[in-house]
Amino acid sequence: MGHDKLRKFAENETFACLLQPSAAELLSDGYFNLKDHPIKGHWAERMFGREPGAEIILELGCGKGEYTLDLARRYPDKCFIGVDIKGARLWKGAKTATLEKIGNVAFLRTRIEFITAFFAPGEISEIWLTFSDPQMKSENSRLSSPLFLERYRSFMRPGGLVHLKTDSRFLHEYTKAVVRANGLKLRCCTEDVYQRFLDSASGSARNDNSVISTERREWRDLDPVVYEVQTFYEKMFLEMGLPITYMQFVIDHDGPYVHPTDFDEKFWRDAEGPRRSFSHQPAKK
Ligand SMILES: C[S@@+](CC[C@H](N)C(=O)[O-])C[C@H]1O[C@@H](n2cnc3c(N)ncnc32)[C@H](O)[C@@H]1O
Repeated sequence: MGHDKLRKFAENETFACLLQPSAAELLSDGYFNLKDHPIKGHWAERMFGREPGAEIILELGCGKGEYTLDLARRYPDKCFIGVDIKGARLWKGAKTATLEKIGNVAFLRTRIEFITAFFAPGEISEIWLTFSDPQMKSENSRLSSPLFLERYRSFMRPGGLVHLKTDSRFLHEYTKAVVRANGLKLRCCTEDVYQRFLDSASGSARNDNSVISTERREWRDLDPVVYEVQTFYEKMFLEMGLPITYMQFVIDHDGPYVHPTDFDEKFWRDAEGPRRSFSHQPAKK
């Protein structure tokens, strides 16, 4: 392991805003019987020093935590937790939060598969998925699959929102299919965040297949954070000229989530091409 990584891992131990539970602790009763972490149900008081019931928002696969940090600066009344498995990336977010003394930010180093061990029913109000790996070969590994939605629902408030911002048209179309198959409320959806922004700014509404707004009022009310914050990966994708998509849907659903039957996986995998291998390169400083 490189010297720089070791230095970051050592400094990670000193950050009060960073929780790094051992996987062994969670898995002591097996993968299908995860042990709850003691902070489950107590994030507001124990991590943030807030009243129980304070609003908490997650960013899953946060990398360096750009959304977590930016949202926290914009919304001091709410609390934000960035989750990722990569310690060297989380270091950047935790270091920034510590230096800037941002009290409403925390980071959690864990696999997202273990997320239910950390949050109690109703503890979370929104989830941001920012440039998640599209996992084209394994549906159950996609962070917007029925399996993951089931996990999220176990700890989200009624009316809880999921935001997906991605360069991956494959993941975007797949998620739209999941939303359709389960009759979830799609609050807004665009296949090109910046095109849409330009259109909105000029006051001209586009009306073609590349932009879909299910509820124009919601779309006009879209939080500028969607087009004002660019993550580390987003900047690289934008340099490559890739359109950035965004959607926002409500997680509420009675009964089990079902898999989509009308998603043409091969078509969208071919459309995506091999460029995604790029995202598996290590993130530089
Ligand atoms: C393409 S990067 C995007 C990072 C950041 N959101 C951004 O936009 O720059 C995907 C991130 O998800 C994290 N990740 C992927 N699968 C994960 C999992 N199962 N559990 C935890 N983190 C995961 C990776 O470590 C990586 O930092």
